Amino acid sequence: MVPFKSLIQLDKTASIPIYLQLSDQLNQLIQSGQLVAGQRLPGTRQLAALLELHRQTIVAAYDEGLAQGWLESRAGSGTYVAAHIPQQIPQRLDATSPVSQTQPGYAFETKPYLLRPVLTNQAGLRLDDGFPDIRLAPMEELSRAYRSYFRWGNPQQHFGYGDTKGHPLLREQLSYHLNETRGLRTTPDNILLTRGSIMGLHLACQVLLRPGDIVVIGETTWAGATMNVQQAGGRVVTVPVDPHGMDVDKLAELVSQQPIRMVYVTPHHHYPTAVTLRADRRLRLLQLAEKHGFAILEDDYDYDFHYLSRPILPLASADRKGMVVYVGSMTKSVAPAFRIGYVVAPATLIDELARLRRIIDRQGDPMLEFALGQLFKNGDMKRHLRKALRTYHARRDWFCDLLTNELPDAIQFTKPDGGLAVWATFRPDIDPEALARQAGREGLSFANGLAHNPPGQRLNGTRLGFASSTETELTQSVLVLRKLLHPLL
Ligand SMILES: Cc1ncc(COP(=O)(O)O)c(C=O)c1O
Repeated sequence: MVPFKSLIQLDKTASIPIYLQLSDQLNQLIQSGQLVAGQRLPGTRQLAALLELHRQTIVAAYDEGLAQGWLESRAGSGTYVAAHIPQQIPQRLDATSPVSQTQPGYAFETKPYLLRPVLTNQAGLRLDDGFPDIRLAPMEELSRAYRSYFRWGNPQQHFGYGDTKGHPLLREQLSYHLNETRGLRTTPDNILLTRGSIMGLHLACQVLLRPGDIVVIGETTWAGATMNVQQAGGRVVTVPVDPHGMDVDKLAELVSQQPIRMVYVTPHHHYPTAVTLRADRRLRLLQLAEKHGFAILEDDYDYDFHYLSRPILPLASADRKGMVVYVGSMTKSVAPAFRIGYVVAPATLIDELARLRRIIDRQGDPMLEFALGQLFKNGDMKRHLRKALRTYHARRDWFCDLLTNELPDAIQFTKPDGGLAVWATFRPDIDPEALARQAGREGLSFANGLAHNPPGQRLNGTRLGFASSTETELTQSVLVLRKLLHPLL
């Protein structure tokens, strides 16, 4: 006789009904070989007495097993484990040990280039990677637009399968917005909406790269890009980045020696150093792409925030021959959790990217895409972006003054023309790793910068994001740093 009383553990406080818990556990006993095909189960009265349950609960649990086909009833004789259940080798089922395992029973490969820390928003004082201030996001306006999607219109269209390329309203509005503010010449056919810009980068790498293709990237750069190149089988070759952006002369030298398939750039605000690619280098890069036939993957992840007069127009705006695949994002403009990004490219490439996107994500989030489209249409997005730009501009100035006045000599930096973070390099006798650890104990989080070090090099630098903190919070954060660095100042 199977010791039902000790093997079956029911939790009367759980939200799952008792009869379902019982049915699941009987099923597990069958799967683990404790109960075998053709074995007779106790009568409902007997099991009810044994488990101190109502008889109807046992009847319901057996009915569930009968409906699912792993029990069968024989007229006048009772309930049995179904005869067709294959024989299992009995295993010890220790009711006290967790059923879930940490290791699967099969082999799989861990790709070393994917082993990168995932940055998350921190509560408390923070100098983050360059995240926006979520408190500024137009939540009221967004939720109003979101609600209207649920209230009005045809539910078949609103909640059914839609266009893989994204909601038509946002594609149309983005097309107007990009043409008006960034000098692009798009129609909605040139736009694929994605979940954040990282999905756009992924799709572009998957479609454009063949194994072994060379992709040139500025050193040092954003790991999200290199990981995607590697995942697509591309070979990363780096060129230096100086205060004027990627060294395009070095690129010209490289491309004269070997074929290059793609160049990945963040020309507006290079990641992580926040420098802007100089005008002459932009033109030269485009000329080289046209001459040698390589694609330019332009990542313009935080375009909206540039503090010098007008933002510099993207490379894509000067692209006459279709060499640029332009990737942008709403995650820095609104808030990271709103995972909306986009790719701008010739329509034939957009079609192919959408075909690939379809097999991992049938479509995006039409509710959110619609709501953002509404905000562009009614002007709320423009107002939000203007306000956020003014706020971040003031915070950048405040923060840079603080660094200069409170931490003289400890940190070297150039006031960035745009973006949401300062690239700070510490004096060689200051160890940012130890400092980040100590700061964490004082309630201030910032990244230790190790992730930015190219192999075998120590840049001793990190990104200190200023946008997500108010002036008061920035002051408190810098005072924590000053306190910790005091003995060295
Ligand atoms: C350079 C760069 N590109 C792209 C992204 C990805 O942004 P998204 O949230 O749109 O995927 C980031 C994120 O911080 C980034 O730093």
